[in-house]
Amino acid sequence: MELPFAESYRIKMVEIIRKSTRDERKKWIKEANFNLFKLKSDQVYIDLLTDSGTGAMSDRQWSEMMLGDESYAGASSYYKLKDAINEITGFEYYLPTHQGRAAENVLFSVLIKEGDVVPGNSHFDTTKGHIEFRKAIAVDCTIDEAFDTSLIHPFKGNVDPEKLEKVLKENNSKVPFIIITVTCNSSGGQPVSIENLRKVRQIADKYGKMIIFDAARFAENAYFIKLREKGYNDKSIREIAREMFSYADVMTMSSKKDAIVNMGGFIAMREKDLFCKASVFNIMFEGYITYGGMSGRDMNAVAQGLYEGTEFEYLETRIKQVEYLGNRLISFEIPIQQPIGGHAIFVDASRFLPNLPKEQYQAQTLAIELYIEGGVRGVEIGALLADRDPVTRENRYPVLEFLRLAIPRRVYTNNHMDVVAFALKNVFDRRKHISSGFKILKEAPIMRHFTVELERVGINNFQE
Ligand SMILES: Cc1ncc(COP(=O)(O)O)c(C=O)c1O
Repeated sequence: MELPFAESYRIKMVEIIRKSTRDERKKWIKEANFNLFKLKSDQVYIDLLTDSGTGAMSDRQWSEMMLGDESYAGASSYYKLKDAINEITGFEYYLPTHQGRAAENVLFSVLIKEGDVVPGNSHFDTTKGHIEFRKAIAVDCTIDEAFDTSLIHPFKGNVDPEKLEKVLKENNSKVPFIIITVTCNSSGGQPVSIENLRKVRQIADKYGKMIIFDAARFAENAYFIKLREKGYNDKSIREIAREMFSYADVMTMSSKKDAIVNMGGFIAMREKDLFCKASVFNIMFEGYITYGGMSGRDMNAVAQGLYEGTEFEYLETRIKQVEYLGNRLISFEIPIQQPIGGHAIFVDASRFLPNLPKEQYQAQTLAIELYIEGGVRGVEIGALLADRDPVTRENRYPVLEFLRLAIPRRVYTNNHMDVVAFALKNVFDRRKHISSGFKILKEAPIMRHFTVELERVGINNFQE
């Protein structure tokens, strides 16, 4: 008999989490102005807000922390991380930063100016924020298939070559680079194929443009290439990652994802000239070149995490857990982005709550209902996150309204996934009673979703 699948690690330390009552949760979410970011972590039972910086480090990573070199300049930890980055990505130069958005801030300070146009595949919100903050425009060139959640396509993160060429033809002189997010978070943790990366490289070369990877989940992307792309089944994750990076000139990294650390990031690149220019901003915003925004011990943990995060057995354990939750939801006929992505389940909130107008924030309403139901915290990836148009200041309504349930790495068991699935099923069973959503009371001028304050529109039959 074939043995069942089990995790590629065992547990050495545990953290106690607390359950709560429905009445407590109703009170807490109201006090948090219906913004899940404002909840205290002990008001949450299962926290699927993000997979970023929420993973469990291994015994080897903790050992590496003890070996950190905290010298201001020239620390051995810097060189340890340099070697790991070079071995895994092939990039020769790198700058440590305190997290992914800091890498964007430093790099874009060199590369983006007002009026520029930056094409890519569903830019992540901080990426878009850093582009728009510089009065430039992010143009989404993701393939159309990504916007039909029920359509099965192996690489829904792919860039549409025709859309990309159109942007380049129309704005050639204004395009500083093309950015590709692997995997593509905003479209559902969906991978980009090697074939697509090769095609984008050809187009970039034709127009003389650099390619930047937003590489936070590059290892999960490599895992999907291994499983889904012809000719890659026999290759190791590291071989695939090396090939992926061979099509890029620069990468920004949030190490809080596939390097399985709680804080950290970096920029890596091939060209010395860009390294020198970016170093100036790194010193201004982050810290000296050999530590950026990081302590030596954290750089050691990232180096070790990059090796662990590119092990097939680890990735298989991780992605199978995401799949486990997704398949449970599919069996309950809950609409989710398919195929199931790498780091999260993206619940299609407009199909879940079709009777609620999008102006009342369907995905946010669903996130709040799920929290009240089971103490599970997800996050809205919809109209709140899409923010206002920087020029017209009108609300932007994205094609897809998602509730994202992001799974932290090596943290929860499949029993927790069952709790999440059943809680969401209970909400699904009473969805017809969810007749009203939310309106905005207060919002920040940019990246409003983090701090927005909301108020119920009318009375929700079920809740009040
Ligand atoms: C694809 C992607 N890029 C960039 C970032 C920003 O990274 P950080 O949160 O480390 O600033 C994130 C964070 O979630 C992300 O998912």
